[in-house]
Formats: sequence, C-alpha cells, structure tokens
Amino acid sequence: MSQVRARDSIQVLAPAKVNLCLHVTGQRADGYHLLDSLVAFAAGGDRLRLTPAPELSLTVSGPFAAGVPCDARNLVWRAAELAGWTGAIQLEKNLPHGAGIGGGSSDAAALLRAVGYTGSGLELGADIPVCQLSRAARVSGIGDVVEALPNGLAQTHVLLVNPGVHVSTPAVFRALAQKQNPPLAPFSALEADAPCWLEWLRAQRNDLEAPAIETAPVIAQVLRAIQAREGCDLARMSGSGATCFGIFQSAAARDAAGSSLRRAYPDWWCCATALS
Ligand code: C5P
Repeated sequence: MSQVRARDSIQVLAPAKVNLCLHVTGQRADGYHLLDSLVAFAAGGDRLRLTPAPELSLTVSGPFAAGVPCDARNLVWRAAELAGWTGAIQLEKNLPHGAGIGGGSSDAAALLRAVGYTGSGLELGADIPVCQLSRAARVSGIGDVVEALPNGLAQTHVLLVNPGVHVSTPAVFRALAQKQNPPLAPFSALEADAPCWLEWLRAQRNDLEAPAIETAPVIAQVLRAIQAREGCDLARMSGSGATCFGIFQSAAARDAAGSSLRRAYPDWWCCATALS
C-alpha cells in the first residue's frame, strides 16, 4: 500500500518510473515529441509526508537532497499550488533527480494523488499523468494518453544504475536525428508468458538512447556494464537518461550484479528493485 495515514499527516511513496521502451514517433508543431512508451514503476522511490497547515512549506532530506529547491522551483510545490493544497511537505529524496526515472514528476504526482486532485496534471510535465496512475501503462501522445496494462507486468527483477551525470531532457530531444520512428510493435505478446514478453521487449527500443549517449558517453559504458553481468536479460536506458536498467532472470542474479557493479563503480548509484 503506497499511502499510510497517521493522525493528520499522510505518507506517500513516489516510485521510480522506468520507461521499458520509448519510441519517438513524431514531433508536434509546438516542438513537443510524440511518444509511444511502455512505463512501469519500481517498488522503491522518494517518500513524502504531507501535514495539512494554513501555509505551504517544503523540507527536503535523504541521500539526493543536495541541490533540490525548497520553493516554487520544485515541482512538488507547484503540484500543491495546482491542487489548492497547503501544508508541510517533507520530501525524502532517495532517487537521483533529472535522471530519466520520474524524480520530481513522481513526487508531484504522488502529492496530487494523495490530496485527491482529479485533473491530469499535464501542465506540470509530460510524465505527470502516468506517474499519477503509478502502475504499468502504455503512454502515448506527448505523455497525456495513458492506458493501464490490464494485467500489469509479471514481477520483474530490475537493477537501476545511474553514473551520476545529469543529462538535459530538452538537449537529448534536440539531438535526436530521426523524429519519425515506428511505434511499439503489436502488444498481444504482453499477455503471453514471460520469455515471450522479454522477446517482445528486446525488439523495442529507447530512441533517446543514442542522442543521450552523444551528450553523455558514460551511458554506453553503463549499458555495457549491466549487460555483461550474469543473468541479465536486457539492459536499456530509461526516459532521456542517464539512468539505465537491467532486467535479470532472478532476484539472486540481480543482487549479485548489483554487488559486483558497486564494487567496480563505487561512484555509480545502483538500486536493486522490482517492477510490478
Ligand atoms: O514535460 P517536461 O517538462 O517533463 O518536458 C521537459 C522537456 O522535454 C520539454 O520542454 C521538451 O523539450 C521535452 N519533451 C518533448 N516531448 C515530450 C516530453 C518532453 O519534447 N513529449
């Protein structure tokens, strides 16, 4: 359960978002790109505690608190304003931000969900609608068309790895040479057994991987390092990077890969989790 109510305050999880595949299928006249993406959510993420009060305030703690603004520059603050909610927001940043795994969008969406906001929240960012749903979905349009996967995904053992570089989402989209790419292949494979699903997923892409690698070449090293670990079925980048994920055959293989990567690359963030 992602929401726990204790007296007046509510605790909510803002889970990491993972784009299992992300196809860019076109560009609108206003510059926004059309996407076709399969999005899932991890078991872990940032945590929010919301305590209603007459004034809005924000405090940030946790391993990724450094540099996170505590005012209207923070998306979670703007989400509170959008929902007309006031109170104290205590935000525990456990996820790297500006990292292709939701970050600020997931925080903002968690607040909107917790306070019962009924709009899409799209005005805060293209990732907000799916983060509000917070479960496996196909996302299209510019992020505004969200279709939940009826059966979710089978439990998937995943390692998230971020090399500590920040990549700019607009810069990655700008560097994408070919804006018109094929959409996701037909979806029926998702209803089949796991090996078949993985085969389907391997045949999909993240079209932003190549331009993100141009911007931050270390991403290619991250992908190779994940792929080289025993039991890795697939390594791919999420969103516009720089976080990459590996899907592993078992929880044990994932954990062993995590330990090995932490030893080899002590500066990288490495998080063993599950998608559901
Ligand atoms: O919506 P969000 O603020 O997360 O998007 C950040 C930037 O990413 C946008 O300003 C735009 O440059 C780019 N973007 C895009 N097409 C999308 C989503 C984001 O071009 N569908």
